[in-house]
Amino acid sequence: MITIIAAVSKNNVLGYKNKLPWKIKLEMKHFLDSTKNQNVLFGFNTFKHLPKIYQNWKIIVLTKNHKNDLILQKKNILVFSDINEVIRKYQKNSTNLFVCGGAKIYEQFLEHATHLIISVINKDYIGDVFFPKLNYSNWKLIKIKKYQLFNVKYYQKI
Ligand SMILES: NC(=O)c1ccc[n+]([C@@H]2O[C@H](COP(=O)([O-])OP(=O)(O)OC[C@H]3O[C@@H](n4cnc5c(N)ncnc54)[C@H](OP(=O)(O)O)[C@@H]3O)[C@@H](O)[C@H]2O)c1
Repeated sequence: MITIIAAVSKNNVLGYKNKLPWKIKLEMKHFLDSTKNQNVLFGFNTFKHLPKIYQNWKIIVLTKNHKNDLILQKKNILVFSDINEVIRKYQKNSTNLFVCGGAKIYEQFLEHATHLIISVINKDYIGDVFFPKLNYSNWKLIKIKKYQLFNVKYYQKI
């Protein structure tokens, strides 16, 4: 099972200057609750800029150019340099893989993901990376959780 989890603004922004453009405590709580004790995959760029690494994550990092980087060696991190290997390992697996970004990673995993969990923030933001265009005919909306500043939409691939 491969689940993409992301937060996007109304105008589809994911990030700006390697950070989230917003600070929304409840949205972060939703992300941390959803990924607690789970396999979480990050692109190297997102991983390098994470403000905090949670001990309860089983971390997987995708990189071609930084396989030997010190930040990947210090911790208990699984490193892949080939996206197909990741897909082979998790697509048919009953263990969920949470794909946690960034933009380059979402673009490549969208066609392989079986589930999406998207927090849509009710505001426009300035950004430099965007969530890829969704073809809604491929996705069935199965649940919405409403919050004051954002809604979490759960989709299943049709
Ligand atoms: N709003 C959200 O939910 C959310 C979530 C996550 C991140 N973000 C934002 O997204 C931005 C970062 O996204 P990004 O697109 O710049 O970077 P990214 O997707 O995090 O990482 C890109 C890097 O991942 C590695 N990579 C990508 N595809 C690969 C492949 N097929 N095989 C091997 N390695 C591969 C490469 O690393 P190497 O160059 O090391 O080979 C590539 O440079 C930040 O602004 C961050 O805040 C937002």
